[in-house]
Amino acid sequence: MKLILFGPPGAGKGTQAKLMSERFGLPHISTGDILRSEVQKSTELGQKAKGFMEAGQLVPDSLVTEMVKKRMSAGDLEGGFILDGYPRNVAQAKTLDEILKGGIDRAIYLSTSEKVILQRLTGRRVCPKCGINYHLTNMPPKKDMVCDRCEVDLYQRPDDKEATVKNRLKVYLEESSPVLDYYKQQGKLENISGDLDSREVFELISKKLPALSKK
Ligand code: AP5
Repeated sequence: MKLILFGPPGAGKGTQAKLMSERFGLPHISTGDILRSEVQKSTELGQKAKGFMEAGQLVPDSLVTEMVKKRMSAGDLEGGFILDGYPRNVAQAKTLDEILKGGIDRAIYLSTSEKVILQRLTGRRVCPKCGINYHLTNMPPKKDMVCDRCEVDLYQRPDDKEATVKNRLKVYLEESSPVLDYYKQQGKLENISGDLDSREVFELISKKLPALSKK
């Protein structure tokens, strides 16, 4: 099954994608994670993307689409995938339909309120090694600021500072939210409240995707 997890920053796309990937055995593709890795390795793409990401802006379509095409051709996606962070505008959604020929199967929209988003993102801390997200109060690590799995210090994403989060939200409303109508018109949109506890969100997603839940 070809799935998209869609929603504003902090809706829980990465968190749900990881749970779904573990439960259903589908590869998780996060354009944000791929871009952060390129920035960390200081590749040509990473150097071009860095400034946009730190400002909370979208990285230009041409760069991101090349990156997605490369990932899609890797040969491990015959059984489907969970795409998180792409598409982020209608042009990207159309490009994705072209890449996939038959398009996606379902777009899961995690609708989330601004208050919840701000609380989640300013409190998020990430493991630099395995990429797992924690939250200072919602999902704290067992040991203060240390990853449960890797035992390395957690860090705060530069784009999780409050001013940048507000800019990311503005960009989401202006550029990304029209993607909802695009999938609604195709009859592929599933709407789920992202404000709920992450286990509840996961159960709701699993119920919406019975073909996957039976696996
Ligand atoms: P990206 O990494 O995709 O960021 P985002 O979409 O802004 O999403 P986030 O990762 O911030 O949030 P999330 O919804 O995954 O929430 P999470 O599960 O982490 O992109 C970063 C940047 O890369 C963009 O700004 C852009 O510059 C660039 N980019 C990426 N893709 C692009 C594209 N296609 N085109 C152009 N540019 C692109 O959860 C957040 C926090 O909340 C965590 O601490 C978590 O523990 C906690 N939490 C999660 N769910 C719950 C819950 N249900 N209850 C309580 N706490 C929860």
